[in-house]
Amino acid sequence: MSAESSQDDLKRAAAEAAIAEIEDGQIVGVGTGSTVNYFIDALANEKHRIEAAVSSSEASTERLKAHGIEVLDLNYTGDIELYVDGADEATRNMHLIKGGGAALTREKIVAEAAKRFVCIADGSKLVDRLGAFPLPVEVIPMARSLVARKLVLLGGQPEWREGVITDNGNLILDVYNLDLTDAVKMETAINQIPGVVTCGIFAHRGADKLILGTANGVEVIE
Ligand code: 5RP
Repeated sequence: MSAESSQDDLKRAAAEAAIAEIEDGQIVGVGTGSTVNYFIDALANEKHRIEAAVSSSEASTERLKAHGIEVLDLNYTGDIELYVDGADEATRNMHLIKGGGAALTREKIVAEAAKRFVCIADGSKLVDRLGAFPLPVEVIPMARSLVARKLVLLGGQPEWREGVITDNGNLILDVYNLDLTDAVKMETAINQIPGVVTCGIFAHRGADKLILGTANGVEVIE
């Protein structure tokens, strides 16, 4: 890949490389976002090989169905073999920040149900330490202000993503300047605040494999 590759080219390269992760007859979990959109478009060419998809958002469901890919309810499928999703940040030890697209809760549910979680991204998402990207937290509407105060006590600066309602009818707080050195501990602490549905730290259940599109080609980290 040339040094002039655009970020979109790098996302597409990672997404297309993830097609090789699919085995015949599988139900494929599908995440959300611009990188995953490339994956869904590539999956359309393989739809005869898979049984169906499980989706993490209304947007991905719509795109999958537009390609003629059947979308099943996770309550019907039980655990699935494979989940493919993007990230806002990823570390080499497979911890992620997700939720830039506000789909974090369903993404976390499908990731938990999957035996393998393959994360696809352009190389700019790889970081030494999580936290430069503001952490999305999905919050029950009546608890927005309470949760924001608790997040300040944890050292963060929450900002309400005004105008955004999640697929679950909730709100998003984006939290700046949290210390995510111990990502597992912070994930637990935030998820214990009453009114939090979940936060966008994926450390308890991180990725199993990162596929990164870079100017030098696709880099795989396992
Ligand atoms: C959506 C997500 C996305 O995976 C994340 O925001 C990355 O998106 P993109 O592929 O558009 O960069 O977590 O909630």
